[in-house]
Amino acid sequence: GWSMDTFIPKEIARIREICGDKGQVIGAVSGGVDSTVAAKLMHEAIGDRFHAIMVDNGVLRLDEAKKVKKMLTEDLGVNLTVVDASDLFLGRLAGVEDPEQKRKIIGNTFIEVFEEKAAEIEKECAADSSKGPIEWLLQGTLYPDVIESISFKGPSAVIKSHHNVGGLLEDMKLKLIEPLRELFKDEVRALGRLLDIPAHLVGRHPFPGPGLAIRILGEVTREQVAILQHADEIYIAEIRAAGLYDQISQAFAALLPVRAVGVMGDARTYDQVIALRAVSTEDFMTADWFEFPASVLKKISSRITNEVRGINRVVYDITSKPPGTVEWL
Ligand code: XMP
Repeated sequence: GWSMDTFIPKEIARIREICGDKGQVIGAVSGGVDSTVAAKLMHEAIGDRFHAIMVDNGVLRLDEAKKVKKMLTEDLGVNLTVVDASDLFLGRLAGVEDPEQKRKIIGNTFIEVFEEKAAEIEKECAADSSKGPIEWLLQGTLYPDVIESISFKGPSAVIKSHHNVGGLLEDMKLKLIEPLRELFKDEVRALGRLLDIPAHLVGRHPFPGPGLAIRILGEVTREQVAILQHADEIYIAEIRAAGLYDQISQAFAALLPVRAVGVMGDARTYDQVIALRAVSTEDFMTADWFEFPASVLKKISSRITNEVRGINRVVYDITSKPPGTVEWL
């Protein structure tokens, strides 16, 4: 019968057969559940012939690149290269306020950086006679993504452009390898647990490809990124501390481009506003805002206004989807 226990050896055998004795595989990892599970499975199947690439686009969560590097290389043994391209991304985002423009810049720059690193890895492989050429691109596509791409496109897909790396297939003449394409999200999580991926990662909320750039309303600068990273870190830590993380489908902070008056000690402040978002949903097509106990919101608000310089006000978003979307942009 169908079980995750039999899935792993079968899929590993299938990957080995597909890749042959020398074939090299590249794939992007993000620190999310899907790409981590896919990467670990590839590592189990072909070891260092799988080359994972993580692009630090400058709009990730606090210390995310460092944490992903530690987890993938030290804990999971995956052959990973982290590319710090934050200057390039933030340079191109300078002065840009339009959300779709932000998505396009980040999507296109991602492909460019990924391709450049892939070409470097290709050269290294060519110089080593024990290694074959890069023939495959790993993608952590799930069954719902497969369905969505061949039939109905949900409102999100129409309203907001989600980026993909489809162009790589043509540019580098790579073939696609998709070990998760028959699985649903809960099956990927079960698979992750069997592959010894840390529990906090297996249960992690989704994070959008364009990252904090679509959670900073207005221009994205290093300063704005740092403020939002700090506030979001506090928010998520307090949600975990309250034992609520697993009841929420997605939670994050957004940074608003307005200033409000406040008071600190004897002084007047004129600082920015953080909006907190938390939703429960089955499929992200519709969502309800999450009903926090007031004491949890109180603690979060107090910590953010006390600890994050540049923020003097915190608001909680009580908008469902529809008419709101999950993200603010
Ligand atoms: P919305 O805001 O459309 O979000 O209600 C639904 C889900 O999609 C995620 N999202 C994105 N993910 N690239 C992504 O990879 C994007 O451009 C993007 N926009 C939204 C959002 O975080 C939520 O989980």
